[in-house]
Amino acid sequence: ARHRPLFGRHVLVTAGPTHEAIDPVRYIANRSSGKQGFAIAAAAAEAGARVTLVAGPVHLPTPPGVERVDVESAREMAEAVESALPAHVAVMVAAVADWRPAAVADRKIKKDGTEPEPLALAENPDILATLAASPRRPGLVIGFAAETNDVIPHAQAKRLRKQVDWIVANDVSGDVMGGDANAVHIVRESGVDSLPRMPKDQVARALVERIADALA
Ligand code: C5P
Repeated sequence: ARHRPLFGRHVLVTAGPTHEAIDPVRYIANRSSGKQGFAIAAAAAEAGARVTLVAGPVHLPTPPGVERVDVESAREMAEAVESALPAHVAVMVAAVADWRPAAVADRKIKKDGTEPEPLALAENPDILATLAASPRRPGLVIGFAAETNDVIPHAQAKRLRKQVDWIVANDVSGDVMGGDANAVHIVRESGVDSLPRMPKDQVARALVERIADALA
């Protein structure tokens, strides 16, 4: 139990970006590498949990002992999250696209020498907020927040707005996106736990330790 403190628990993790199709060959995306989410899935599995990792399109190996569900778009990710329930813990690390093209062209859009059509967008579902409000809400719901300024007040506001238990806030004003290190603040109702800058796998282990303590 000391070494596998999450034995018997189901931990759901989302990671990576989403791709939102414009036509069969084009999409909208973001620069998320998936590294932090994959590291959390790996650390939770090492701690003995059953882990479901819902992964957007990334080039990363599946961590040992982790059940991976690959998705492309935010709407696919939302469905995969719903299908993975029930879970004791959800850690939503994915950088979900806020918007998708309102319509997907079924053929490649051609240049025809005239003015390009503006791209109409529709808002994606907020997977984290939906999960936190759902009747099947995991007992511990953790969101991430990437901020460039006023990191902690923004994270506090997001924690309340999304009705989640913890927000892990990172300062992305530097080179965090795609990099191997991260400096995070774990924002809870009871206060803020600020960790020094460390490799993403150590951030993952520190977070998993706190998850195990919270469930114990
Ligand atoms: O609102 P914002 O995108 O800053 O919130 C970030 C948190 O919400 C992350 O945990 C992210 O995984 C989650 N999120 C989500 N679905 C969205 C947008 C964000 O699950 N559509």
